[in-house]
Amino acid sequence: MEAIDARVRALDPRLDLHDELARLRRERKAVILAHYYQDDEIQDLADFTGDSLQLAQAARDTDAEVILFCGVHFMAETAKILNPSRTVVLPDLRAGCSLADSCPPQKLAALKAAHPDHVVVSYINCTAETKALSDWICTSSNARRVINAIPADQKIIFAPDRNLGAWLMRETGREMLLWQGSCIVHETFSERKLIELKSQHKDAVVLAHPECEPEVLQHADIIGSTFALLRATQTNPAQRFIVATEPGIIHQMRKVNPQKEYIPLPGRDTTCACNECPFMRLNTLEKMVLALRDLEPRIEMDEGLRLAALKPLERMLALG
Ligand code: 13P
Ligand code: SF4
Repeated sequence: MEAIDARVRALDPRLDLHDELARLRRERKAVILAHYYQDDEIQDLADFTGDSLQLAQAARDTDAEVILFCGVHFMAETAKILNPSRTVVLPDLRAGCSLADSCPPQKLAALKAAHPDHVVVSYINCTAETKALSDWICTSSNARRVINAIPADQKIIFAPDRNLGAWLMRETGREMLLWQGSCIVHETFSERKLIELKSQHKDAVVLAHPECEPEVLQHADIIGSTFALLRATQTNPAQRFIVATEPGIIHQMRKVNPQKEYIPLPGRDTTCACNECPFMRLNTLEKMVLALRDLEPRIEMDEGLRLAALKPLERMLALG
């Protein structure tokens, strides 16, 4: 298959992309799932938008024949693990994740071998191979619950996000051996900018994703998954929020509460858009049309690997 950029260039410029997407999603009996970090247009075209846990559940439960996953690779792979009889396509196969990349399975296997008395809890932002080496998977919305479900005297390796892991240690009082991975988006947020914004907007509530560095999290009023932060804008009476996560979520915040103000926290380098996830933002309307037309790029997986990765995911999902 030709490279994605060449396929986009070869698309007929006269094509009405919205009509074509509507036609193909009917023809393919497809469902479009989109993460909150996708471009506004993609979120609006999706049948379902959500955080990584909600999207995994939606993928598991769908009876659509094709899942067009507008997110990153580990999310589409999780969809395939949970619902293998569906065709799962990702608009751009290069949509990876720095956290997944930080945890090569051979290195995690070596750490496991060096600590045979530990169980491995992996954040869902990891490859199927890493999941297969794990005892539990968690997402940012159920991580606390997963850790608390493990007996207090059981030692834990937590991979791959060191910031989520350190936050969980503070929240649960559990010591854990932390893998030193991080998200290139959340590690870029500037504590100095946050302090400045807080002093300019004394009434603002600070919302932060647990992937942020501890220096940023210490100033947060509410810490949680993208969905938890979205819900906070509905339940909290504040009129102004400083948002320390990928700004794609602000689209949903504006939809549910348009009269409130949302201030995205910039990165340390204010000249770039580095608070946007470069992987998530690779997906476009053109690539969505191509993915449904060609059913490529498709997520495929060895059945042995799928079953091994399914086990810790199912353990997580059974917690409800
Ligand atoms: P959520 O679990 O909040 O969807 O987070 C996913 C993610 O990739 C955050 O960077
Ligand atoms: Fe990965 Fe960070 Fe992008 Fe989320 S925002 S997909 S953790 S690189």
